[in-house]
Formats: sequence, structure tokens, C-alpha cells
Amino acid sequence: MIRVAILTSSDKGYAGERIDESGKLIAERIKEISGELVEYVIVPDELEEIKYNLIQMADVAKVDLILTTGGTGFSPRDITPEATTAVLHRMAPGIPEAMRAKSLEITNRAMLSRATAGIRNKTLIVNMPGSKKAVDECLDVILPVMEHAIEILR
Ligand code: MTE
Repeated sequence: MIRVAILTSSDKGYAGERIDESGKLIAERIKEISGELVEYVIVPDELEEIKYNLIQMADVAKVDLILTTGGTGFSPRDITPEATTAVLHRMAPGIPEAMRAKSLEITNRAMLSRATAGIRNKTLIVNMPGSKKAVDECLDVILPVMEHAIEILR
């Protein structure tokens, strides 16, 4: 089993003004990698809030994998990559490189995702964009590699 946490960064989702379809999709699709959903939070697009939750998930809940959705674009409030980078110990640039490379075959707007990924202690953290469609496409890219990634982290 892979222990997974989901963090959705969305002001509207946090305020209850938008249903978090993307978080739900991640929760459904982690079953493909025998993922067990340990934590799932929706937070506003606030640097400290995102950092705090990522640290909790990694250091207290000790999950293997944190998948984030949202806040990777150019909007003034988009801050997920900065919050993620702030808590990482080691970068894993190949993961967002692969997501963007594959996604660019689908939409040239994929270049607007500033998503990052990396490792904190034994937890892998991967950012994904906010839309359900984008999350679905990015999961197609990363899920086949996650079991091996987690295996070598342990
Ligand atoms: N990646 C994939 N695979 N499919 C998409 O539709 N949308 C892009 C990009 N990455 C997209 C994608 C768009 S339009 C934006 S603005 C950025 O992700 C950032 O999205 P976010 O601000 O919701 O995180």
C-alpha cells in the first residue's frame, strides 16, 4: 500500500464556493497504484497554510506521497510551487518536466503550469494543475512511475 495525502489549494474550494472535482478525481485514481487515502485537505491559496499542511502530512502523518492540485498558474494568488519548494529537501525536476512535456502535446497552455516536485524526508510531493482535465492528464503521466519512486524512497 502507498499512503497518500491530497492537498487542494483553492480559495473558492476552501470557501465552499466550488466543488473540488480535482481532489475527488485524485482520490479515485490513486486506487490504480494501491493508494490508501490518509489525509485530504482543501486550503486557501496562502503560503503558510500550504506549507503547514505539507509539513504535517510529511512529518506527522508520514505519508509516502502528497499530491497537490491547484495554484500552479500565473494568477496573483497562485503560490503552491513556492510553498512546496520551501518545504522540500531535494528537488525532483523530472516529474514536472515529464508532466509538462506530455501535456504540451495536448495543450500549449501546459507551459503555464509552474508545478514543482521533490522529496521531504521520505515523502514525495508532486504539484499538479487545478482543473480536473489537467489533473487527469497529469496522473496518466506520473501514476505508472509512482510505485517505483516510493519503493526507492523507503
Ligand atoms: N496541463 C494539462 N495536462 N492539461 C491542461 O489542460 N492546463 C494549463 C496548465 N497545465 C492544463 C495543463 C493551464 S490553462 C494552466 S493556467 C496551468 O496548468 C496552471 O493551472 P492552475 O493555476 O490551475 O494550477
